[in-house]
Amino acid sequence: MNILAIESSCDETAAAIVKDGVEIVSNVVASSHEMHEKYGGIVPEVAARMQLESIIPVITEALGVKIQEEIPAKIQDSVDAIAVTVGPGLIGSLLVGVETAKTIAAVTGKPLISVNHVLAHMYANMVIPSETRNLSQSALVNETPRQARSDMFPAISLVVSGGHTELYLIKSPKDLMWLGGTLDDAAGEAFDKTARLLGFGHGGGLAIQEAAIKYRDTGSTTPIRLPRPMLEKDNELNFSFSGLKTAILREVNRLKQSDGFTEQAIQELAHEVQETITDVLVKKTFRAVDTFGVRSILLSGGVASNVRLREKFREYLDDRQTQTALYIPPVQLCTDNAVYIGSYAFFRGKETPWQDITAVPDLSVEVSA
Ligand code: KG4
Ligand code: ZN
Repeated sequence: MNILAIESSCDETAAAIVKDGVEIVSNVVASSHEMHEKYGGIVPEVAARMQLESIIPVITEALGVKIQEEIPAKIQDSVDAIAVTVGPGLIGSLLVGVETAKTIAAVTGKPLISVNHVLAHMYANMVIPSETRNLSQSALVNETPRQARSDMFPAISLVVSGGHTELYLIKSPKDLMWLGGTLDDAAGEAFDKTARLLGFGHGGGLAIQEAAIKYRDTGSTTPIRLPRPMLEKDNELNFSFSGLKTAILREVNRLKQSDGFTEQAIQELAHEVQETITDVLVKKTFRAVDTFGVRSILLSGGVASNVRLREKFREYLDDRQTQTALYIPPVQLCTDNAVYIGSYAFFRGKETPWQDITAVPDLSVEVSA
């Protein structure tokens, strides 16, 4: 089954064709990052206007046709259903994808499937290739499954993106249970806000990661220690990251007053921010793993591309010598794209008449079953 998936919830415009939920036939992502860099952050109207301009070219490319007039015939011939992100996200951005998908469904008569962006992130792990480390085999396993791996479940899934930090128990690709999430800022938001305080502009988590690597290369050990929020609460599976920006702001002001806000100090702070966020994410995830006794851990979302987070999960598993498998999608499937939208639609989507589909900016992610 070939699904044409469309994603436009934030500042990316993406389309993909995904076969049977696991195989990438095509994957096209247009980003307006450079434009937002210029404005010092995402400006919703700018994002939506750029998405309006790029949505048809992106779909044209994903379908592999040369001119837009060939789109309907190509869909009739090679697409079985259309999937689109309906929320959560920015209303103007969501509308671009939703209205385009509805029009395509109305014109071609193909079924339409509405997709929750945050839940869909997790399905990047169902797609080939997925970086899989199974400690019992102590090697990278590069399987090419035709369907969701039966030995993957039950799994604990951590979704860490710019707007969300959520933990789920997945019993099967259809059966999801929300376990907890952030009470305030998401992990990605904490990276983005502290990146701005450290002078990295709109560089976000990637800029912090790069500065932290430079700090690690110097071999120093950081004297700054930021608080690890919510770790003391034993059975809590919620997160809180908003205190981090206040703690960083305090350090930045202190350093500026003593002329100590040097490149070295910035790198040191970036390192400690990354250590703090990743410590909390890893420890909370393993708390869920211990509570539910699962077979694997699935990471997803933009923050899952963080090299230190990936490394820490591996180290933690090594230390525990467990059989738990760790699934992490490649970086290009962690950040926003339409591939996981198509995968989610295949495994968990429900066909809805196009007349009944609307954009829902605050769509809930707290699902069960
Ligand atoms: O999933 P995503 O692409 O978009 C949303 O759905 O929000 O996630 C974007 C988030 C941003 O906060 C960005 O700073 C963060 O992912 N991010 C990273 C890295 N790459 C992207 N955070 C930490 N380390 C990275 N390497
Ligand atoms: Zn996302």
